[in-house]
Amino acid sequence: MAVPLAPGGAGLAVDTVLSVRRLGKTYRSRAGARPVPALDGVSFSVAGGEFVCLLGPSGCGKSTVLNILAGLDRAFTGEAGLGPGVRIGVVFQSPRLLPWLTVRQNLLFALETSAVPRAEWEVRADDWLQRVGLGPFAHVHPHELSGGMQHRAAVARAFAVDPDLLLMDEPFTGLDEFTARAMRRELLQLWRETRRSVLFVTHNCFEACYLADRILVMSAGPGRIRDEIVVDLPRPRDDESPELFERSVAVTRTVLAAASPRAV
Ligand SMILES: Nc1ncnc2c1ncn2[C@@H]1O[C@H](COP(=O)(O)OP(=O)(O)O)[C@@H](O)[C@H]1O
Ligand SMILES: [Mg+2]
Repeated sequence: MAVPLAPGGAGLAVDTVLSVRRLGKTYRSRAGARPVPALDGVSFSVAGGEFVCLLGPSGCGKSTVLNILAGLDRAFTGEAGLGPGVRIGVVFQSPRLLPWLTVRQNLLFALETSAVPRAEWEVRADDWLQRVGLGPFAHVHPHELSGGMQHRAAVARAFAVDPDLLLMDEPFTGLDEFTARAMRRELLQLWRETRRSVLFVTHNCFEACYLADRILVMSAGPGRIRDEIVVDLPRPRDDESPELFERSVAVTRTVLAAASPRAV
């Protein structure tokens, strides 16, 4: 049974922006092919202003969860409810900018389908391009930008539509580590300024510890949430601090233990 993603409304706690209950998904790609159970009984919620990371190895169902929440996949079981009036923004692993539009036009295109009043579109687009350091590149086309700059444009586009909840699927995974670090710092800065909720998918334990208030550890076959880790490191965080590295080693152990539960 497919339960459409719908506003959760009255049933949710006041500051809950997202509530996922017993989410299940089985892929049936071709007739006759063996069905692939991708998710089973996934439940969690995200509070207003919270930064939550969904962490797990490749193939454990992280993107499946995000695609369902983004409304791209309607064939699932269970429930996924947004808080009243909650709007979402999405950043995928590849920037997905429209190649025939300039960077600025890409932001305006997203704003056209948002709840942001028309009178604010241009100001917002320019403001967010400035914030991510792309002001001078507003009128170039995506192929003229480096990979990191394209990702910054995708982040600016997602923030520009003023979402209450930002869904991010491994947005920095394809980047070199230096660029990824700069992007993580920028993301935390934007998050601090806007106080939106973020659900961030990653397989990188260090990244999850650096970014998250709370980490949901997933395991595969089918995808389940095995553990929840509260990251109580003070903010603002230093991405070179020994405490962060220590914590990320401990989280790596938890992920490995979750991946092979019988081995521990
Ligand atoms: N369109 C699809 N058809 C069939 N199987 C799929 C499809 N998309 C994903 N899967 C399978 O579902 C599981 C979870 O995939 P995915 O959500 O992409 O994992 P992750 O994002 O954690 O790497 C994997 O076993 C994957 O092969
Ligand atoms: Mg994925």
